[in-house]
Amino acid sequence: MSFAREQVHNFAAGPSPLPTPVLEKAAVGLLNYNGTGMGVCELSHRSKEFKGIIEGAEANLRKLYGVPDNYSILFAQGGGTTQFASVMLNILAARRIQHKDDKEYAVPTIDYVVTGSWSSKAYAEAQRLALPPAPGAQPFAAPRIAATAKPSKFTTLPKQDEYDFSADAAYVYYCENETINGTEFPAADAPSEFSFPFDKVPAGVPVVADYSSSFVSRPIANFDKHAIIVAGAQKNLGPSGVTVVIVRNDLLVDTTEAMKLGNIPAVPIQSEYKTLADNGSLYNTPPTFPIYVSALVLEYLVAERDGMKGIEATNRAKAETLYAALDAAEAKGTVRCVVREKLARSWMNITFEIVGEGKEKAFLDGAEALGFRQLKGHRSVGGIRASLYNAVTLESVKALAEYISNF
Ligand SMILES: Cc1ncc(COP(=O)(O)O)c(C=O)c1O
Repeated sequence: MSFAREQVHNFAAGPSPLPTPVLEKAAVGLLNYNGTGMGVCELSHRSKEFKGIIEGAEANLRKLYGVPDNYSILFAQGGGTTQFASVMLNILAARRIQHKDDKEYAVPTIDYVVTGSWSSKAYAEAQRLALPPAPGAQPFAAPRIAATAKPSKFTTLPKQDEYDFSADAAYVYYCENETINGTEFPAADAPSEFSFPFDKVPAGVPVVADYSSSFVSRPIANFDKHAIIVAGAQKNLGPSGVTVVIVRNDLLVDTTEAMKLGNIPAVPIQSEYKTLADNGSLYNTPPTFPIYVSALVLEYLVAERDGMKGIEATNRAKAETLYAALDAAEAKGTVRCVVREKLARSWMNITFEIVGEGKEKAFLDGAEALGFRQLKGHRSVGGIRASLYNAVTLESVKALAEYISNF
C-alpha cells in the first residue's frame, strides 16, 4: 500500500518530518539549482552559489535567535555524538593555553548534568577521553556528575537546590531536551524550580548545552550565559549529516599550540572549532545537501512561521494539546505519562505508556491504521513517544489527541 504525505501524521524522533514546501523547493534544487543547470549536490562547495547558501543559513539563524557577534556559527560533521568529544577537546585546549605558565598543570574537573540517555552518553565520552595517556600518568581531566535525575530513572529533572558545581570546572555540560526520556528544561518565559540554575555556575566557568532535539523550537533560555550550543540538524533543522555549533569566540583556539604544552588529549583538525571558523565551515568538503535543506528550513521559519515567536506559540499549543489529552486519559486509567513532573516535560518528545497487557500493540496497530506513524518509543526504554517537531502541525497533534481520548 502506498500513501501520500497528506495521509500520514509523522511523529518520528529523528530523522523527522520537514516542511513540505521546503522539500518541494529542495527537490527542484537537487536537479537544477537556481537556473545553473546543475543540481545543488553537483556544485563545488567553494562556488559562489554554495557560499550564498551557507551564508544565508548563518544569517537566518542569527536572526531567529538573535545570536550576538561574539559568537561564531559553525556547520560541522559527525553528528551530535562527535560534539560530545569536540566541546571537551576545544575547551580543554583553551584552558591549557590560559594556564600555559603554570609550573604544574592541575587536572581540571568537568561538571556534567546527567538528565537522560544523551547526557549520559556525553558524560561517558568525557570519561573515555579523560583517560591518562599511559598507565600511572595523570588523566587529562576529571569529569564528574554535578546533578543527576538517574534515581528517578530520568522521569524528572533535578531541582535547583540539587546542583553541586565545582568551583573551577573546565566547563558545565547539560542536555536541554532529552529526546529519549522526554524531559526538557522549562521555557525561557516559564522559569521554575526545574530551570537550569545558571546563577549557581561559578563565574567564568563555560556552560555547554546540547540542543539537538529542541533547536529552533523556542527561544533559548539565557542564551548569553552559554559558551557553546550544539545541535544535530535531524530534528527541527534539516536532514541528518550536519551539526550546528554556536561557539563563543574566546573558545576558538589554536589546539596545536595547546597540544604542544601537553596535558590535553590530541585534537583532530576536524574537531578544532577555530579551523572551522577560520574557513567559514569549509575547511574540508562539508555535507552540502543537508546544509542546503537546513538553509531552506531556516528561510521558511523566518518568512512563513513568523520567526521564533510564531514557532514558539505553535509548539506550546501542540504540547499543551497532547499533554491535556494524556492527563485526561491517565485519569481514566488508559495511559501513563512517563515524565511525572509536569514542569519537567518536553515540548518536543512526549513519552507515555499504554496501561494493560497487550494494549500497547493495540494502540500502535490502531494508530497505524489511522495514519499515525513512528510512535514507538526508543528501543532502550520502550513505550510510546510522539515527537512534535516544528514540521508537525497542530492539526496532526489534535488528531492524535483525539485518538488517545477515544482509545
Ligand atoms: C539530544 C541528542 N543529543 C545527541 C544526539 C546524537 O546525535 P547524532 O545521532 O547526530 O550523533 C541525539 C540523537 O538523537 C540527541 O537527540
